[in-house]
Amino acid sequence: MAAPRGEFSSKLGFIMAAAGSAVGLGNIWGFPKEVASNGGAAFLIIYLAMAFLIAYPALMAELIIGRHAKANPVEALKVIANSDTSRTVGVVTGFAGISTACLILSFYAIIAGWMASNILASLSDMVGMAGLSTWFASDSIERSLLFTAVFMALTISIITAGVKDGIEKWCSRLMPSLLVILALLIVYVMTLDGAMDGVKAYLLPDFSRVMSPDLYISAMGQAFFSLSLGVGTMLIYGSYIPDEGNLVSLGRAVTIVDISIAFIAGLLIIPAMYVALNNGVQIYDANGALLAEDSLIFVVLPELFASMGGAGTFASLAFFVLMSLAALTSTISILEVPVAYTTENHKVGRKPATVIIGVAIFLLSTVLIYNFEVLFGLIVSVATQYGEPLVGLMMCIFAGWIFHRNELLKEIQKGHDGAEHGLFWKIWPNYVRFIVPAAILIIFSRKFFA
Ligand code: PFF
Repeated sequence: MAAPRGEFSSKLGFIMAAAGSAVGLGNIWGFPKEVASNGGAAFLIIYLAMAFLIAYPALMAELIIGRHAKANPVEALKVIANSDTSRTVGVVTGFAGISTACLILSFYAIIAGWMASNILASLSDMVGMAGLSTWFASDSIERSLLFTAVFMALTISIITAGVKDGIEKWCSRLMPSLLVILALLIVYVMTLDGAMDGVKAYLLPDFSRVMSPDLYISAMGQAFFSLSLGVGTMLIYGSYIPDEGNLVSLGRAVTIVDISIAFIAGLLIIPAMYVALNNGVQIYDANGALLAEDSLIFVVLPELFASMGGAGTFASLAFFVLMSLAALTSTISILEVPVAYTTENHKVGRKPATVIIGVAIFLLSTVLIYNFEVLFGLIVSVATQYGEPLVGLMMCIFAGWIFHRNELLKEIQKGHDGAEHGLFWKIWPNYVRFIVPAAILIIFSRKFFA
């Protein structure tokens, strides 16, 4: 007999949890990094199109399948399946999602750990312990191991407490704090010299870049990663939405929050780079492109904070707290994927399942840390450029082709009277059946044939 399933206690609880999953390092680091490397607002425009036109419909597919089946991805796709073949494909897709989730957590927890150790670096600076601060901000293997372990332990402790008392409770606390810190940091950065140049660079598009196929691939990958798609997280969170919840409006709210926070984070990071330039920090590489990748967060911003004197230490602390909060509400949502599967399908209690899986993923992170140069980038690209779009594609195929139309409508009608007359029902079923899979396939195939 499987353990009873958890449920979110309110609409707001779901929005906090799902937006918490979506809003993460991908928004505050990944998105501004892509903007900086890809022609400023040109990337922003394509990203917005990808997020609304491809990622949002795919998110709805996951939420609807999840709530209908009230199960983890492997079971849920079996429930939807209508033949032996589709059942097998469903199981394979479910496992592909779970594996992608584990891979993502293995690298995400390392980066999250760096953010957490930088909090301690700022605190050590404040109390004048420069040596310790340097160690916390160093890129040593020991530091990575220690703080990845700390981050996994935090994640495990929240997931052990379950859906309502763990995920919902903590996201409802952490998300508002995140918004306040983000707002304060933006207001502060905007008062500094050079910030307006950054705003211009962010909002004035360089259209010569819009035609590049790579831009579309990056924007789609970023949109899928940002909305936590193609790993089963949103399917599982959907499965915890009570039947009174209106899926169409909940999904829309999560998408809008996620995209807005990415946009707003750009208003922090890009102007901060130009403030750094104004303070004499190097922000361009040898080819004249803006420094992006790791150097954006771990070189440019620390140099900016250092150039700001005493205020810089507080800004640095606030920034790394912001990053750590954003990361934690995401790591918990990723760990929930394998944990939900294991507790439901293998009759293991939530606590042992969470600890065993959490430790196993930490061991995987350890392998990445010791073989960083060879493995890190590889795992990131396998998970985010292949795993997520392909699993996302399969979810859309299940929702559009395999899920029975009447059942689909009944699911959408729950908590949404008159859904059959709404715009969503008029457009989405065919859209997710034809357009989204075709768009994913076309963009994806350009990877190989461009
Ligand atoms: N959406 C998160 C971010 O933007 O940082 C990353 C993420 C969380 C990806 C959860 C996948 C996932 F299941």
